Formats: sequence, C-alpha cells, structure tokens
Amino acid sequence: MSSHSGSFGSAARGPGRVTVNTLRAMAARSERIVMTTAYDATFARMLEEGGVDALLVGDSLGMVIQGLDTTLPVTLDEMIYHARAVSRGSKRAHLVGDMPFMSYQVSAEQALQNAGRFLAEGNMHAVKLEGGLEMAETIRRIVRAGIPVMGHVGLTPQSVHAMGGFKVQGKDEDGAERIVADAKAVAEAGAYALVLEGIPAPLAARITMQLPIATIGIGAGNACDGQVLVCYDLLGLTPERVPRFVKQYETFYERGVAAVRTYTEEVRSGAFPATAHSFGVASQPTAANTEASTGTSSSDPIH
Ligand code: KIV
Repeated sequence: MSSHSGSFGSAARGPGRVTVNTLRAMAARSERIVMTTAYDATFARMLEEGGVDALLVGDSLGMVIQGLDTTLPVTLDEMIYHARAVSRGSKRAHLVGDMPFMSYQVSAEQALQNAGRFLAEGNMHAVKLEGGLEMAETIRRIVRAGIPVMGHVGLTPQSVHAMGGFKVQGKDEDGAERIVADAKAVAEAGAYALVLEGIPAPLAARITMQLPIATIGIGAGNACDGQVLVCYDLLGLTPERVPRFVKQYETFYERGVAAVRTYTEEVRSGAFPATAHSFGVASQPTAANTEASTGTSSSDPIH
C-alpha cells in the first residue's frame, strides 16, 4: 500500500479494539502492522501484552499444535474451537480466523456460510483465505455479506501438493506476474488486507507499492505494510523446524525443558512441594502448617 517512512508511533491505534479501519489507517500512515498467530487464550493475552495489533488463528495450528505435516487435515470445527479460546484471552487485537482447507473452495455459498461461523461462533472479526484470481468471486460474496476478508497469495500452504512442497513462489518472471495478478484480483474483490507469503522481497515491495490495501508479509522481505509470524516460531517453541525467514526472539522450548528438569529433580528428591506450596488444617495446626507458616487458612481459595 505505502512506502515506509520508518514511523514507530502508535498514532493510528486508539486505546480500544483494533479494527479493519485501524489497520487501514495504520498502513496509510506507514505505521507497520504487527500480526502473529495465536491458538489459545493464554498466548492471546501474552501476545497482546507484547503489543501485537492483530492475531491470526491460523490453520498452522495443524502443524504446531496437532503435530501434522501439513495444514490440510485441520477442520472448521477445530478452528472455531481455537478461535473461541483466543477471543476469550483477547481484549484489544483485531482477530482473524483462518479458513481451513475445503471450507471455502467448493462454492461461494459454502465459503460464506463457513466464514459466518467464524464470526458468529468463533468471535472473530474477519476471515483469511488462500488464493488469488480463482478466489475473487468468493471473496466478493463474503465481503458483500459484511464479513471482512484478508487474502493470502504466494506460498499458499493449503496448495502444498500442487506447489510440489513448501517452496518460495514467484521467482521467475511468469510466476511473479501471476502473483501480481492474484494480489490485484484479491484487492479488487474487496479484501481489506493481503498476506504475502514466501515470495522474493522485491516482488513483495512491488505489490505493496501497487496495491491499495495493506500487505502483511511472511518470508516476503521488509517492504510490506506489516509482518506476521507463527507465534511458536518467534518464541522458539519449534526447535526442529525453523524456516529461514523466521527470527526466534526467545528459546522457550529449551527453557521449558530446563524448567521441567528442575521440577522432575525436585519431585524425586522431595524438595517440592515445600511448606509454602502446602495447605494446613484449621483444627490441628502444626509448626509446619499454621497460617503463619503457610500463609493460608481453611477458607483460602486454592489460587
Ligand atoms: O496459518 C497460518 O499461520 C498462516 C500464516 C503463516 C500467514 O496462514
């Protein structure tokens, strides 16, 4: 959408819920949009506290939560279950539900009905779907019904078999032109934003300049209006599968293993639970479990 001035402020983000209008205004002001995936309430809360503008309940949950090799087996009911959980942990972010494989490809009517479930049952504010020219009519139909749609072109994981694997797209001229045409078709169909995944940085920059809507990149370089990462990737929870475009800002997996090792040792040695983690009895106070030593009384709540 825009060329970037390097603005870091939050002028376009008000104190309330981030909406499609907020995101449009941010892109117009060259204020970069920060999006991550989220799959449950606790992560949604943590990611929001970290300042994320938009949370995508991505079908990547098939790979990082369910342990699958692709996103293809993920069902709409599973997506809605996670969408509801995320919405319970979220107060401020714009929430996007990712339409899973075969929940929108059959017909525009099927797509509209299933997109509606994300809003009505999953408490999402928008849906995302993969595809370009071939999805334009479907996007138009959903948008006409009042449901904001985020597009997704380039490397589209639901087409993993058609692409011959998870491969960077648009590296040759024909491929690049096809992705430009896809991006334009999605914007013309009424999408409010577009994920550009796994394409060369100069191609993403060209699309971002030419499109009237915000682009959100993943493995698409630095010129997009925003960036999205899988939260498990950015927090270092996927040690065996780190794509080149990911920057790990934490090593939660390793730190988790170390913490659990300490717990294991303390349980085995008897060091845990200590008096501080134990409850006393009101009728038979002992030196170890009086209110003074445990800080609890029989009427104390468990937390
Ligand atoms: O499912 C997902 O997490 C996604 C993002 C990586 C864009 O589609």
